[in-house]
Amino acid sequence: PSVCRPSRTRIVVRAETSVASPINPNIQKENPKVVDTVTTSSVEKQVAYCRCWRSGTFPKCNGAHVAWNKETGDNVGPLLIKKD
Ligand code: FES
Repeated sequence: PSVCRPSRTRIVVRAETSVASPINPNIQKENPKVVDTVTTSSVEKQVAYCRCWRSGTFPKCNGAHVAWNKETGDNVGPLLIKKD
């Protein structure tokens, strides 16, 4: 009589490491840290500063976050600096 044995399958599960992609795709990549400073006395009217890193007028917002949000389902928007 033949013996029916369950086949043994070895399953190996490995965790893959992934390097998170940077949020900043291409702005001032030559600098180790991009910092922009705004003082309230320098603001004459409302200014919108980009937080999505996709603005063509960085550091100011040019509305590029709208396309980014639509493409990715993200919800980023600018930092608004308003005069008192
Ligand atoms: Fe980046 Fe508007 S373009 S927050």
